[in-house]
Amino acid sequence: KMVPVVLCGGSGTRLWPRSRASRPKPFIPLVDEEPLFISTLKRCADPEMFGAPVVVTGSAHLEHVEAQLDAAEGTVIVEPMARNTAAAIALAACRLDANDVMLVCPSDHHIADCDAFNSAAARACELAREGWLVAFGITPDAPETGFGYLKQGDEIGDGAWAIERFVEKPDRPRAEAFLAEGGYSWNGGLFAFRAGTFMDELTAHRPQIAQKAREAVSAGHAEGRRFYPEAKAFAEIESESVDYAVMENTGKAAMVPVAMGWSDIGNWQALREARARDEDGNVARGRVELVDCRNVMVDSDGPRVSVIGLEDVIVVVDGDDILVTSAEGSQKVGKLTGACSQ
Ligand code: GDD
Ligand code: MG
Repeated sequence: KMVPVVLCGGSGTRLWPRSRASRPKPFIPLVDEEPLFISTLKRCADPEMFGAPVVVTGSAHLEHVEAQLDAAEGTVIVEPMARNTAAAIALAACRLDANDVMLVCPSDHHIADCDAFNSAAARACELAREGWLVAFGITPDAPETGFGYLKQGDEIGDGAWAIERFVEKPDRPRAEAFLAEGGYSWNGGLFAFRAGTFMDELTAHRPQIAQKAREAVSAGHAEGRRFYPEAKAFAEIESESVDYAVMENTGKAAMVPVAMGWSDIGNWQALREARARDEDGNVARGRVELVDCRNVMVDSDGPRVSVIGLEDVIVVVDGDDILVTSAEGSQKVGKLTGACSQ
């Protein structure tokens, strides 16, 4: 069985105004009525395949996590402060047995095809038992700079490859070169490994993070289903993502390619693509009237919105806040002062 380790961090300014500090992205209805956090837990709920989940989160999200986490199942590790994903995963790894296989899951992704996800997870679990650190390869369709890139190496068995090179967030020219060269996938942000393998590799490449995480866990304390790592040791941990700290450096990285309708819903345009669209490519949520529009998304939580004769425009109304952007412009929403101030 695998232990789902669900990571809930992030400030979530990129889907402002719907998502904001008080209503973070994983916990609100986005693609459909079900929040992404709940979909993440449900994907990993088959008792044949998965044990009870471990959620790693900060105190800012704790209330949301506990409200949406099923009463009996699952535990929560409460980070004293954010120290990025290498530290977050290390906390969970130190709480588990060395032989437990962890399936690290971001809490804010959309996966349309759960069967494809399940078979990839099962395959990744086998590889993790053999000592691999497994990433999930997504076929890239643009030179995105916000993702990790995996270069496929030797085949190591049915439907799995060693990763020859892992490059986190390359700049634009490099991302373009990877696509032109071929043989690269995006990193889907999910990982599978034995807790012991992860800690060994973290110790080899980032001994400071491994050591401080061990200290924070051994001096930590449980309160009901919550576990509080010791704050002083945790505070000293270097803030680095698992991609840079471990995946770029390990010689044991493998990948399972998977086509599962994956999206990290990184901006409003990506959300529009994940939502059901009508024959003109439009999405209307709330009291919305669209006339002669193409590829327009309007999402209003109250006021009636009418749009005529526009293309590739996104309008979001949330209380007193209104966002109007081109699809392209939606990548810059996180930089708005309005988005940052809440
Ligand atoms: N608990 C906890 N603590 N969770 C965190 C923290 C933290 O300090 N920092 C980030 N997370 C959570 C986020 O909430 C998200 O669910 C997940 O960890 C990944 O973090 P992101 O900040 O969203 O990473 P990213 O999108 O820049 O990059 C990662 O995901 C891409 C795919 O979406 C990398 O793994 C890339 O290589 C990958 O392509
Ligand atoms: Mg992300």
